[in-house]
Amino acid sequence: MIKVITYGTFDLLHHGHIRLLQRAKALGDYLIVGVTTDDFDKSRGKINVQQSLMERIEALQDLGIADEVIAEEYEGQKIDDIKRYDIDIFTVGSDWEGHFDYLKEYCEVIYLKRTEGISSSEIRRRQGIRLGLIGDSPVLCKYKREAEIVNGIDVTAVCTDNEEIMGEVQGQDISVCSSYDELLDLCDAVYIITHPSRHYDDIKRALLKGRHVLCESPITVKYGECMELFRLASDKGLVLMDAIKTAYSTAFNRLLLLVKGGKIGKVLSIDSTCTSLGNIYEWDKSIIRKSWNSICAWGPTALLPIFQIAGTGYRKKTLTSYMLSEEEKFDAYTKIDFIFPGLAASARVGTGAKSEGDLVISGTKGYIYVPAPWWKTDYFEVRYENQENNRRYFYQLDGEGIRYEILAFLRAMESGKRKNYLNEDVSGMIVKIIEEFESGTGVQKLI
Ligand code: CTP
Repeated sequence: MIKVITYGTFDLLHHGHIRLLQRAKALGDYLIVGVTTDDFDKSRGKINVQQSLMERIEALQDLGIADEVIAEEYEGQKIDDIKRYDIDIFTVGSDWEGHFDYLKEYCEVIYLKRTEGISSSEIRRRQGIRLGLIGDSPVLCKYKREAEIVNGIDVTAVCTDNEEIMGEVQGQDISVCSSYDELLDLCDAVYIITHPSRHYDDIKRALLKGRHVLCESPITVKYGECMELFRLASDKGLVLMDAIKTAYSTAFNRLLLLVKGGKIGKVLSIDSTCTSLGNIYEWDKSIIRKSWNSICAWGPTALLPIFQIAGTGYRKKTLTSYMLSEEEKFDAYTKIDFIFPGLAASARVGTGAKSEGDLVISGTKGYIYVPAPWWKTDYFEVRYENQENNRRYFYQLDGEGIRYEILAFLRAMESGKRKNYLNEDVSGMIVKIIEEFESGTGVQKLI
């Protein structure tokens, strides 16, 4: 009996796949199809597969061409499978020509001509959401580039004074708008990275026009306004999502699951630090006024693990700030200490200070250490008293997590519900802390 094996993602099964499978089957007597798992796809940069592994496997089984369907979970598995299943022929589409020649040592390798004019990526692209970008931050360039990687979302318009972005979109099919209204007319969804004091107006205008919103955190600087916007989005069936890229990274999400699963016992403290030292001490008032203070720039990220692990029901909170400008409410550094029932937490943020940007979560059995810069990490360690039990975890992080965030936004728009990455309580509590800082009440000042 001649045994044949082939591999693929087989997302949104199409006639290109079917033709390949028919020809693969005809090469022998028994066909095994390996379907890539979600994690394996992510690790090789294929992030927006629409169907789950189970859906893709079921579709292949229903098709009835394959005799056996297996999951492909790790790099190098093909060699293991060829040996384990005693394979005679490995086959794959001609888009992989030459790529799998190393398998010739184990079996025959045949590249079948790829069917022209169809691919899963193309099907995903057809459903494209038009995305508008507004703001002057250089981060906007990163969003544009990352959005290009996510099938199903296309940047169609920008509204900015930033010359770098203008240069980047030149010659592309992207409109440069002179007003926000013009931008909103040209898109279905908008990413906002204007100054936080403008967020409320910018988000409200977008929602009232029926546009979905992804807004750089904080959503607003007033808690009441934030909740009003979430209600408005919900009433209109629109997505309003907080853009904290760390919240969407695989490593951070797996870390949360380990903590919730009791890996380090009962959590007793969380210490999170985020700093990036700019030349803020040379700024004049006009620049300070337009810039993000430390608590807005870093507060949402630093507070994220605290509220996601401890919840939002703290008993006591202390804010301590070193101010660059009292008048502009601009802090160079702020430390926020919390007492929760049974847990103490501390967040340190600064654009006018430098510190070790790590995250430490301590528990009754061990602790989790995420090295600096923890907010864009692909790696963390779980450490115990007995070092032999220590574990290291690595997860691929592409595009600093921005592409996963855009993908989560796309999925939320498609499914009509927010995915459970960040709930409104967390977004709202971040805003509440910032509002309290801006009101000045109870903020201790380092003179
Ligand atoms: N394939 C093919 N003809 C096509 C599309 C895919 O022969 N038009 C083959 C691939 O060469 C591969 C198998 O089908 O051997 C599974 O491919 P997969 O990567 O899952 O499909 P694509 O449509 O190429 O997916 P994507 O666009 O996400 O890369």
